[in-house]
Amino acid sequence: MKNIRIGLFGFGCVGQGLYETLNGSKNFSGQISKICIKNPDKPRPLDSKLFTTKANDILDNPEIDVIVELIDDADAALEIVTLALKSGKSVVTANKKMVAEHLADLIELQAKTGSALLYEGAVCGSIPIIRTLEEYFGHEPLNEIKGIFNGSTNYILTKIFEENLSYETALLQAQSLGFAETDPTLDVKGFDAKYKLSILLTHAFGIHVPPNQIVNLGIDHLKAADLEYAREKGFTIKLIAQAKRIADKVYAFVSPQFIKPEHSLASIKNEFNAVTLNGEFCDDQLFIGKGAGSLPTGAAVLSDISALSYDYKYEYKKHYNLGRLPFTNDSLLEVYVSFDNPHEIDLGDFESIQHKYFSFDHSYVVGKMCINNLLDEKWLNNPKNNLVLCANGTENTLGSLCVKGLSAEIEELKKGQQLLEKITV
Ligand code: HSE
Repeated sequence: MKNIRIGLFGFGCVGQGLYETLNGSKNFSGQISKICIKNPDKPRPLDSKLFTTKANDILDNPEIDVIVELIDDADAALEIVTLALKSGKSVVTANKKMVAEHLADLIELQAKTGSALLYEGAVCGSIPIIRTLEEYFGHEPLNEIKGIFNGSTNYILTKIFEENLSYETALLQAQSLGFAETDPTLDVKGFDAKYKLSILLTHAFGIHVPPNQIVNLGIDHLKAADLEYAREKGFTIKLIAQAKRIADKVYAFVSPQFIKPEHSLASIKNEFNAVTLNGEFCDDQLFIGKGAGSLPTGAAVLSDISALSYDYKYEYKKHYNLGRLPFTNDSLLEVYVSFDNPHEIDLGDFESIQHKYFSFDHSYVVGKMCINNLLDEKWLNNPKNNLVLCANGTENTLGSLCVKGLSAEIEELKKGQQLLEKITV
């Protein structure tokens, strides 16, 4: 194993976690040579000689082998990562927004420069899901990848459901424990989980779907009556990120979902994340681990740095080798929508309505709606209503996803199969 000299950008929650895990590691050979920070006046626990405010002290330093980018600002992060890759240095980042929004270009840049970009810490903290998808599942067609991809919202929902804490108190706790983003609306509105889902779509299905094409519904509009509704029906609520391949099209979205207690995701608590996947050969798999926090995320970053010491890089096997599957939002979802004012709800957007309930303190509609409609701002994170995906289980639904025309498509496939059999005979 080579001795690795690290140039680090950012010394916040994850940066400090990296420093600690590096010191606690038994057989990692390397050290942080320089740390670039924005604010030189902030008190730091380390020797001031280690810090600089000039990016070039790291980027132009020939003694630095690996750049580790752990800052908050996605635009500045992209600039650092691009410059570093172009100068022939390999990079580790945990910036999911930056990776999700620019992954197609970043893959191209890696191919052009031969430098590696690793970002395990960007997705589900300490769960080694990207390398697992790349190395173990590189050749297996996957049907579904789904799970709890955000630690803060899982922490908040656990505290609300199990300890009756208010949303505001639980959010403050998630912030003070270092789980939430600097701007916590990214967590509670489902953006953070969506960036992670967008990244996994590349490694699981070989496609790049820019985050703005993926629906993200958050947990910040859940009202007491919605929680009551869930409890009465024996459900809990989890923020779920989900991508599914059906008849060679890929569907993906992030939303709160009613979860039955016997579902494997119901038992994932606090800042833990979980990823379930279904493969054509392996069937169901479940990965669980801490998805947020200084040490678990620092450990994922350290693992990437260590992988660079043996010249590891993602091969993007599915991106290069699979026929590109089309991504579509043309699918129905079973949704529960609650609202204060029935006049502000466009029932015309529903494909069908199963159930309507109107009262002074809690009105809701349960029905099927196309994902495309949900991209409209009258639905997407509109404070006047709250959307939760229903616990699935009705006929013709696949999870909470019920694909429009799927049965017709399957009928066509069956007819083709029968015809083929006749010809072969
Ligand atoms: N804010 C993120 C979360 C941090 O709560 O999951 C880890 O990506």
